[in-house]
Amino acid sequence: MSDILEHRDGGVMTLTLNRLDRKNSITAAMYAALADALEVAAQDAHVRTVLIQGHETVFCAGNDIADFLEQPPAHQDAPVFRFLRALATLEKPLLAAVAGPAVGIGTTLLLHCDLVYAGDNAAFSMPFVNLGLCPEAASSLLLPAMFGHHRAAEALLLGEPFFAEAAMEVGLVNRVLPPTEVNAYAQAQARKLSAKPLSSLMVTKRLMKRHQQAQVLSAMAEEGEVFARMLREPAAKEAFGAFMEKRKPDFSGL
Ligand code: COA
Repeated sequence: MSDILEHRDGGVMTLTLNRLDRKNSITAAMYAALADALEVAAQDAHVRTVLIQGHETVFCAGNDIADFLEQPPAHQDAPVFRFLRALATLEKPLLAAVAGPAVGIGTTLLLHCDLVYAGDNAAFSMPFVNLGLCPEAASSLLLPAMFGHHRAAEALLLGEPFFAEAAMEVGLVNRVLPPTEVNAYAQAQARKLSAKPLSSLMVTKRLMKRHQQAQVLSAMAEEGEVFARMLREPAAKEAFGAFMEKRKPDFSGL
């Protein structure tokens, strides 16, 4: 079974994170598969909307830490950065269904979605600082714009989880549902969109995003450079080492 499942029906391309034994953490190969699928979706006239979903118990545990250590993204063509650019530039409607933990990119990818549905068990977190890293996916730009500076700082500097109702209050999530219903509800919404005129959907999305698109891509590129550098620095090494050894990191002196 593939770690990324692609299913097409009724104009909806559904991409399912399917690596439950590792809590749907994402490897470079998975990023490449996601980027490929989004690039196809952008071009293929039969695809009218895209839905990203996980499992009712977990959406995504962020980057696969072991894989990240083995093949850190060193340049802008690395699969993770290709995926992020494909997300940010997709002109067709993009939906997400989130239940359970959504860590790191599991939360930041939502900033690029048009509609987000969450299970009442959803727990969003961006523990980049706790990993000796910095924000990615243009979250340093988009999060303060959506949450306001103080709530964004709380989420990014403390890196603690926040939950479905809080996510709805700040506008990250459209609706909260029982976890077993999230994927089906998001699928129904995607189908509703797929029945509308695609040209109008795409023009509307483009107009809504036109003032920010260049800034988003520039923030992503800048964050990506810093992120790649920080991955090689002592704080990240300590954080990742601690994760692998199942101990608390020791940042004293760092
Ligand atoms: N990378 C690699 N392996 C991961 C992982 C990740 N991001 N997230 C979870 N796993 C592994 C765990 O190490 C564990 O492996 P094991 O069975 O060999 O011990 C397995 O997946 C199950 O995870 P576990 O932590 O036991 O599940 P949980 O339900 O208690 O907690 C999470 C789920 C997502 C809250 C927790 O796994 C977590 O915080 N993961 C790390 C998230 C993270 O820091 N991501 C990086 C963001 S950039």
